Amino acid sequence: MQISVVLAPEVPAELALEGHSCVVIDVLRATTSMVAALDAGVKGIYPVADPEDAWALQQRLAEDMVLGGERGGLKISGFDLGNSPREYMSATVGGRFLAMTTTNGTRALLEAAQAGADPIYIAALRNAPAVAKRLLREQRPTVLYCAGTHGLVSLDDVLAAGAVISACVDTSGDVALADSARLAMLAYRSERRDLGEALRATQHGAKLVALGFGTDLDFAAQVGASTAIGQFDGVMVRLAGHVLRRPG
Ligand code: MLT
Repeated sequence: MQISVVLAPEVPAELALEGHSCVVIDVLRATTSMVAALDAGVKGIYPVADPEDAWALQQRLAEDMVLGGERGGLKISGFDLGNSPREYMSATVGGRFLAMTTTNGTRALLEAAQAGADPIYIAALRNAPAVAKRLLREQRPTVLYCAGTHGLVSLDDVLAAGAVISACVDTSGDVALADSARLAMLAYRSERRDLGEALRATQHGAKLVALGFGTDLDFAAQVGASTAIGQFDGVMVRLAGHVLRRPG
């Protein structure tokens, strides 16, 4: 017997995000890979919708550009890298630009930008405490925007949202939580003792294990392993503090 619950109808991004800071989360695996790339010294990440956009960008910019991403969880034919965070290391992306396209994560980032959210950060479990610190410093109304899977809830993303929220609540007595934020926090707090196992129990985690990417889940589960905060200016993700404001 299959049982599912629609936890939230897909809210149009422009309604949810207008006037808010936004933190885009795709733990398995786009934002985990982006955080790994930032840790590895990538110069900047261009999230794009399709493989064709990545190739066009590479030709147009004629930069030293690596192409990374997935379809169906697997490396796209002709690309340099797939979407395993362990592929994003200094030897592959250090000092280079990266164009990336994934099924849900890069789409969510582009949606957030289109909806006018500003600033837009990327979060995963690995950098959740660092993101929380940044949000507390800025004190702006914030939406944690889970990429989900084809418009449906993904528990892995909810857990990372909960990790960010839990760290905010642990640090400050002045955090007002919507029910959705409380739900994410409760989910994280009930699973935080073994997040690797929790990720394995998710639908997407199980799919990745079946594809042979089980170690990606252990990597993704390491809360606080990174202090890198990526900020998306609508074109490129760079380390926060290095974002160039575009005119107009
Ligand atoms: C996505 O964007 O849908 C994911 O990152 C897919 C994956 O696990 O590679």
